[in-house]
Amino acid sequence: MAKKEKITVNSILSYKQAKKKIAMLTAYDYLMASILDASEIDIILVGDSLGNVMMGYKNTLPVTMMEMIIHTQAVARGTNRALLVADMPFGSFQNNKEEALSCAIDLIKAGAEAVKIEGAQYIDIIKKIIKAGIPVMGHLGFTPQSVNILGYKYQGKTKQEEIKLLKEAKALEKAGCFAVIIELVPDAVAKKIAKGLLIPVIGIGAGPNCDGQVLVCYDMLGMYPCSPGFVKKYADLDGIIRKAVKKYIEEIYSAPVAQ
Ligand code: KIV
Repeated sequence: MAKKEKITVNSILSYKQAKKKIAMLTAYDYLMASILDASEIDIILVGDSLGNVMMGYKNTLPVTMMEMIIHTQAVARGTNRALLVADMPFGSFQNNKEEALSCAIDLIKAGAEAVKIEGAQYIDIIKKIIKAGIPVMGHLGFTPQSVNILGYKYQGKTKQEEIKLLKEAKALEKAGCFAVIIELVPDAVAKKIAKGLLIPVIGIGAGPNCDGQVLVCYDMLGMYPCSPGFVKKYADLDGIIRKAVKKYIEEIYSAPVAQ
C-alpha cells in the first residue's frame, strides 16, 4: 500500500491556493488520535478544551502546561499523517516573550508540529515563536480563554467589531501565522475574513464559507452533554456506550451464582 502523504504546514497553506477545504478535529489521547489519523483528518488539535471534556473543569482557564504536554505526547504517539497542533494554555504566553517561547518549545518537544495562540494582542510573542522555527496558528472571534471578558457569545456582530476582526486577522497573517481559527462569528463576516486572507481561515460556529472547519471530537461524536448548539452530531456515542454498559451490567447480574 502507498505511504500516505504527511500533512505539513506547507500542505495546509497550499490547500488555500488549491481551494481545497481543511478538516480538523481535536484529540486528547493516543487511541482517538489513531482513529482520526487513520480516517485521514488533515489537522489534529490538542485543544485546551481538554479542560472541559477530559478534566471536567468548567472552562479552559485552569488547564496547565503539564496537562497540555502529557496529552500532546499521547496524541503524538497516535498521529502519523495529520498535522499536529497543540494549544498554548492560559498563562503560558501572556507573561513575557521568553516564557511564551519556552512553553512553545516544550509543546514541540512533546510532539506538536505547531502551536495555537488565542487573541491578536500578542503579535510580538507570536513573531518570536515563529522566528524560533515554530509555526503558529491564530485564534480569533470568541476566544475561550477570555470568556470572563467576552462572555460566551458571537463576536463580530456590529460593523465596528467586524472591522476589528478583519484587522486582527490581517495582523496575524502579517505576523507569519500559517492559519487562523475564527470561532462564533456570523457567516457573512467569516466569509469576508476568509476572502481577505491568503492563509487558511478555519471556522467553528462560523458558517460553511471558511477554508476549513474544526470541532471538538467529543461534541461531534455526540458524547459531551454540554456541546454548543451549533455543533452537528455525526454519531450518538453517549447513547451507544450507555446501552453497551447497561447490557454488560445486566449480563453480569443475570449470570448464575456459584453455590
Ligand atoms: O481548545 C479547542 O479545542 C479549540 C477548538 C475548539 C478551536 O480551541
